[in-house]
Amino acid sequence: MQNQIFRIAIDGPAGAGKSTIARKVAKELGFVYVDTGAMYRALALFCLREKISPEDEAAVSSAITGVRITISYQDKEQKVFLGEEDVSGLIRTEEVGNTASAISAYPAVRAHLLDLQRNLAASVSVIMDGRDIGTCVLPDAEAKVFLTASSGVRAMRRYKELKEKGIMCNLQEIEQDIIERDQRDMNRAVSPLRQAEDAVLVDSSEMTVGQVVSAIVDAAIAHGLQVE
Ligand code: DC
Repeated sequence: MQNQIFRIAIDGPAGAGKSTIARKVAKELGFVYVDTGAMYRALALFCLREKISPEDEAAVSSAITGVRITISYQDKEQKVFLGEEDVSGLIRTEEVGNTASAISAYPAVRAHLLDLQRNLAASVSVIMDGRDIGTCVLPDAEAKVFLTASSGVRAMRRYKELKEKGIMCNLQEIEQDIIERDQRDMNRAVSPLRQAEDAVLVDSSEMTVGQVVSAIVDAAIAHGLQVE
């Protein structure tokens, strides 16, 4: 029999494969996958549309107060809504990702999304990914994983992904972008990206997707998850 509720927090830098892995772990364990980056991205999309500079903390903080971000699940896939609009597809651009990284440094932005994230994990077993899940959003999660990979490996994965979609890109630029995003996410004052003290470190640089999934399932079992 499975535990009533079990929460796996998975944090790590951009491009570490968190969403791919978390989606597979969720499927294997019958958990809900919660992608918190999508929520920051939805707020970033709002700022871009409203032409609010991501550098202007006061403008961003006041503009988002009335913005409603909601999450729903269709066929177990997370959908994110900006007001009534499903923006799940529109938020997957580099521009939105970089804007999300910039505005996520602001306390008002983080506070705006915290309850939503905690509520999603209040009544079902989840695997939630982001930058501060183990340290701030779910500090008492039953299992925590810090998933990383070298910037070179992360850049190459991203490069291949974009190429497959037929998008022109440059490997060095992608790596530079990843390094800058890491710096921003790790050095902000509020909820910076860092490994929680009780998180298991998984470096996926030399691992297959299957091996990473197994490592995370094993970490959950080691932390008390009962599987049939
Ligand atoms: O995981 P992602 O690339 O979709 O996240 C986009 C940005 O959102 C990321 O660079 C930093 C921010 N973010 C955050 O600050 N905290 C989270 N829990 C998730 C994302």
